Amino acid sequence: MPQFQYTQGDRTIVPPGTKQIPVYIMGKRYKVPEGLTIMKALEYVGYRYIRGCGCRAGVCGACVTVFRLAGDYRLHFGLACQTTVQPEMYLTQIPFVPANKATYDINRLKPDVYTIEKLYPETFRCLSCNTCTKACPMEIPVMDYIQALVKGDIKTCAELSHSCIMCGMCSLRCPAEIQHFHVAMLARRLYARHLMPKAKHLEKRVKQIKEKKFDWMLEELMNLSEAEMKKRYAEREWEPEPYDPNWQPKETKYLIIED
Ligand code: SF4
Ligand code: SF4
Ligand code: FES
Repeated sequence: MPQFQYTQGDRTIVPPGTKQIPVYIMGKRYKVPEGLTIMKALEYVGYRYIRGCGCRAGVCGACVTVFRLAGDYRLHFGLACQTTVQPEMYLTQIPFVPANKATYDINRLKPDVYTIEKLYPETFRCLSCNTCTKACPMEIPVMDYIQALVKGDIKTCAELSHSCIMCGMCSLRCPAEIQHFHVAMLARRLYARHLMPKAKHLEKRVKQIKEKKFDWMLEELMNLSEAEMKKRYAEREWEPEPYDPNWQPKETKYLIIED
């Protein structure tokens, strides 16, 4: 495949001579340039996303796509903004994955297995088939975090599911009909509210903000003209790449105020 830049900002660049490949979008055959993502291929043939698209960067989980490949019996799932089209791909969009979502007051819940059992009892139906892990576009060990919850290990579930983008592909595949992304969100909330050690430095910073120790910086900014603001922005200091732990900005008056 030729090496070139396909995108620039939100524009798709299709260099002349790019090979066209056939794909089936919701049953209709189209020719699209090879190398495009599914999202860009859909737009190339005239579809406009009004739902099922958010970040365009593999973060929001809104663009779940189901597809089959030529000669492959398996059903595949992927993010439209991250998956590249392939010849004879048969695809369709899933704009929304319906899932039961428990409502609760996190402050009144106990971070234990009984809370999980009460709010998401289907979690305990896990068959350990690992289908959810194979479906996850974020390469999260989904079965492992469900199994951790079954054992009442909220912390492990919260840590393992940290990068979940709530796309729902795991739930679509699960034979036990578990709502992985919602139960994992509950685990992360329980962990953050009841189990995680308090961040002392954060408490200190909130206290400093309440004591208005940073207000002078905001006032200084608010009193700048637009031209001064632009100049400051253009002349701002950059942290070095790679990160240097000994680096300090030349201007030190904005550095963290310690008590
Ligand atoms: S797909 Fe469902 S049943 Fe299978 S391991 Fe994952 S959670 Fe368990
Ligand atoms: S755990 Fe499930 S909802 Fe979360 S990113 Fe993976 S497949 Fe999507
Ligand atoms: S649009 Fe956000 S993950 Fe694809």
